[in-house]
Amino acid sequence: MAAGVKAATGVCAAAFNIECRACPRLSAFLQEVRTEQPTYFAQPVPPFGVTRADLLIVGLAPGMHGANRTGRPFTGDHAGILLYQTMFETGFASHAGSAEPDDGLKLINCRITNAVKCLPPQNKPDVAEIRRCNRYLAAEIVAHPPLAILALGNIAHQAVLLALGLKIKGFPFGHHAMHDLPAGERIPKGVRLFDSYHCSRYNTNTRRLTPEMFRAVFADIRKFLGTK
Ligand code: URA
Repeated sequence: MAAGVKAATGVCAAAFNIECRACPRLSAFLQEVRTEQPTYFAQPVPPFGVTRADLLIVGLAPGMHGANRTGRPFTGDHAGILLYQTMFETGFASHAGSAEPDDGLKLINCRITNAVKCLPPQNKPDVAEIRRCNRYLAAEIVAHPPLAILALGNIAHQAVLLALGLKIKGFPFGHHAMHDLPAGERIPKGVRLFDSYHCSRYNTNTRRLTPEMFRAVFADIRKFLGTK
């Protein structure tokens, strides 16, 4: 791993590898993007935020012109607007906007990662890619288990369960669902998984996810952390 990336992410090599080329389709796609968009980051995107954070937010995968361009999760794309606005309002981010990675944004007791670290074609990682990349998410959670995990969308939700060795059946995804996870080899007792619809352009434009719905999830996370 490049030293700069390690300094920025604060995670161990098991939790992030900028040189990972384990998924042939994704590596080939990133190679194409680098040719077409030479100024884009176009590599596996590292997690962002506080290493030992009480809240871990898990997104899906970098967006083409957002994280894949800027190298920071949810930075520079539509999905990041509502996410960072809501995080700011609920005290998890130093300010609301997040257009570029040099904006001085600091996360507060929080960290953001993606279920899949590389940009997938059409924003759709396939099952094998999600499974292959899961080793990084698992290592990230195990290295510093958070008290709360927020899964943005069903794919992130399932990736978290897979990372923890838990069966999907026992923990159905639903917007604003909360699951108290059993203690195991990978996490201690008391970790709660929160679910939200993903804050994607599609979900926000169709009002499947409204700012109020999203804020209510974060408010519950804040309340939960306050009891710990
Ligand atoms: N950008 C990310 O980093 N992750 C997402 O899930 C969407 C946009």
